[in-house]
This record gives sequence, C-alpha cells and structure tokens, in this order.
Amino acid sequence: MTITVRQAIQDDLDSIVMVLGELQVRSTAVADADAWSAMLGQTGRTILLAERGGDPAGTADLWIAPTLLHGAVPRAFVNYVAVLSAARRSGVGRALMEDAHRRAVVAGCRDVLLMSGDHRPDAHRFYDALGYERCAVGFRMML
Ligand SMILES: CC(C)(COP(=O)(O)OP(=O)(O)OC[C@H]1O[C@@H](n2cnc3c(N)ncnc32)[C@H](O)[C@@H]1OP(=O)(O)O)[C@@H](O)C(=O)NCCC(=O)NCCS
Repeated sequence: MTITVRQAIQDDLDSIVMVLGELQVRSTAVADADAWSAMLGQTGRTILLAERGGDPAGTADLWIAPTLLHGAVPRAFVNYVAVLSAARRSGVGRALMEDAHRRAVVAGCRDVLLMSGDHRPDAHRFYDALGYERCAVGFRMML
C-alpha cells in the first residue's frame, strides 16, 4: 500500500487524535479545537500525518527552533511519533521521520533531537534502525 506523508491541516484533528491513542499515555488525547488551532499556528511547528492506502496511519510532531549557537543554526526536535498498530512494520514510521528530516534540512538544521521514554524499547530499536545515536539522559520534574 502506498504511504504518503503531509502536513496536517485543521480537518485532520480527529485522525491525529486517533493515531495519538497509540502512545498509550496515562491520559488520552482529546479533540480540543483550541489546542489544535494553537498547534497548527505555532511558528516552526509542523504536525505530520502519514496515510497508508489513503487512510490515517501515523503522526509525528516536528519543531524547528531558532538558536544562537553554532552560528545561529536552528535545531529540530521530534515529539509524539505514533503509528497505528495495524500499520506497523510497513515503513510508516520511517516515512514520517524521513519527511521530518527533509524539512529540517531545508530549514538549515544540522541535527534532530528526540526523547523516548525508558518504557519504549521497541521505539528505541526503531530509532536505532534509522541511525539515531543515544546521546543524552532525559530529565523530568512533575509540576
Ligand atoms: C515506534 C513506531 C513509531 C515505529 O513505527 P513503524 O511504522 O512500525 O516503523 P517502520 O515500519 O518504519 O520500521 C522501520 C524499522 O525500524 C525498526 N523497527 C521498527 N519497529 C521495531 C520493533 N518493534 N522492534 C524492532 N525493530 C523495529 C526495524 O528495523 C524497521 O525496519 P523493518 O521493518 O524493515 O525491519 C511504532 O512502533 C509505534 O507507534 N509504537 C507505539 C508508540 C511509540 O512508542 N512511539 C514512539 C514514542 S518515542
């Protein structure tokens, strides 16, 4: 089946919420129209939607942040990568990340960073397979 990746638009809210359910975080994703509009309107942010055979199959959230470092080179961050379980191991995740990489290169980024929870060994193997290096220790403080 054909896999395509594009920037999500306003009408894609329900598709993105459905796919984000795959993250299985403690509280579920909700179709909050205000939050969605704010996300889509945020400078440097691109919500990607992957479709497989024309149906929603995965998402990733790309942020390109300007910096003052390394000659003011921007930096890319990827969050909330998720693929429907029925569509996994068919290249959807790879297609999403490759699209994010292309956009980051066009924006002038030299690298892309992401964090993935300790409880996601499958995702870690996915990032390993794509060529990501393990380079940092993540920290979080609950507020
Ligand atoms: C991690 C995830 C996004 C991968 O998506 P995917 O569409 O299945 O990945 P792809 O099919 O593009 O896989 C590309 C390569 O990554 C590796 N890979 C992917 N999933 C893997 C797994 N479960 N175990 C080992 N290697 C894996 C393989 O080398 C694979 O190539 P191959 O299938 O030809 O062997 C998907 O499993 C997912 O949504 N998991 C639940 C949510 C999650 O953990 N998200 C990440 C949050 S940080």
